[in-house]
Amino acid sequence: MARILVTGGAGYIGSHTMVELLAAGHDVVCLDNFSNSSPEAVKRVQEIAGREVRLFTGDIRDRSLLDSLFHAVKVDAVIHFAALKAVGESVAKPLAYYENNVAGTLTLLEAMRAAHVMRIVFSSSATVYGNPDKLPITEDAPVRPFNPYGQTKAMVEQILRDWCVAEPGAAAVALRYFNPVGAHPSGRIGEDPADIPNNLFPFITQVAIGKRERLSVFGNDWPTVDGTGVRDYLHVVDLALGHVKALDWLARDHGFVAINLGTGQGTSVLEMVHAFESATGAKVPHTIVARRPGDIAACWADASLAHRLLHWQATRSLEDLCASGWRWQQANPEGYRTV
Ligand code: NAD
Ligand code: UFG
Repeated sequence: MARILVTGGAGYIGSHTMVELLAAGHDVVCLDNFSNSSPEAVKRVQEIAGREVRLFTGDIRDRSLLDSLFHAVKVDAVIHFAALKAVGESVAKPLAYYENNVAGTLTLLEAMRAAHVMRIVFSSSATVYGNPDKLPITEDAPVRPFNPYGQTKAMVEQILRDWCVAEPGAAAVALRYFNPVGAHPSGRIGEDPADIPNNLFPFITQVAIGKRERLSVFGNDWPTVDGTGVRDYLHVVDLALGHVKALDWLARDHGFVAINLGTGQGTSVLEMVHAFESATGAKVPHTIVARRPGDIAACWADASLAHRLLHWQATRSLEDLCASGWRWQQANPEGYRTV
């Protein structure tokens, strides 16, 4: 068992990952500046797991805070979620994205090196592939993101690759997530968008609960099964478990590797709406509108490398992820702000 520093642990994916780390017997230290999350999420993680998380409130760009954290607790490995993640905002405020996501990671890596912590799992994204030439997407597909957010992910991957060459014994896994959705089965933690959701799944749950009138389906003229966009929707608990497996890889190997985490299955927008309606009995009124700028037709993973290297695969069904996301939405109509 190890002691893991989780940056951005109060966020959507971080909170689910902390639950699974604690369940696997690891000790968890969380560092978060709460720029896009609430301390309530950390409380609920502890309540679900029945174990304590050691919380540091602060920023990954604060070198002296990192130094005192690494001095105060002996950390074996880092899972690095902390980042800004809104694609549209990254186009409007690129400097903030490079500063937080790239410069922030450099500060973290420097502090890790000084503390002799040489293992890291990094949250990358399928967005690094841009518009893929072929499906399913394998890890050797060209990396060519087309927005500043995606660039920050590609840059950090490159930094980690170079760091692992320079530092003998360093080990880094970049997990390229496809589309994480759903919530913990308890309904106590889940995705809590600060504003109008940009992403399909939280928009669907907000329509179903009556917070939004109807879903706009962005185009039905894509070259896909029914003309609507196709993505690889992955249950957030499966994704969280992928991080626990990535830590096992770090403990037995070294160097850099980038690995897709997805189900290997594509689902269209309309298929998702119908799956949600049949899993929950709720209704999702929707209208077809124009394509969203910057969208791609389809994107799904070849997840065989994760199976081979990490012994991981997604096991939760589309029905599970719809039901869990709906449970979270119903129990927390205002997210963590209900408290
Ligand atoms: P999130 O916004 O819910 O979580 C990110 C957390 O990091 C938040 O708690 C935020 O307060 C914290 N944070 C941000 N900047 C920080 C800083 N400088 N110092 C300390 N804490 C900071 O996002 P999420 O959906 O949980 O995503 C986690 C990671 O996964 C991010 O790196 C994101 O880019 C990546 N990712 C997410 C998705 C997705 O669809 N959710 C897909 C691919 C990759
Ligand atoms: N969609 C709608 N209506 C909506 C929202 C989305 O029809 O209100 C459609 C989109 O056009 C797309 C599909 O639903 O076809 C999925 O859209 P999301 O925004 O949920 O997901 P994306 O795959 O477009 O983007 C997500 C993250 C990005 C990340 C990317 C690749 O938002 O940050 O996955 O990992 F870069």
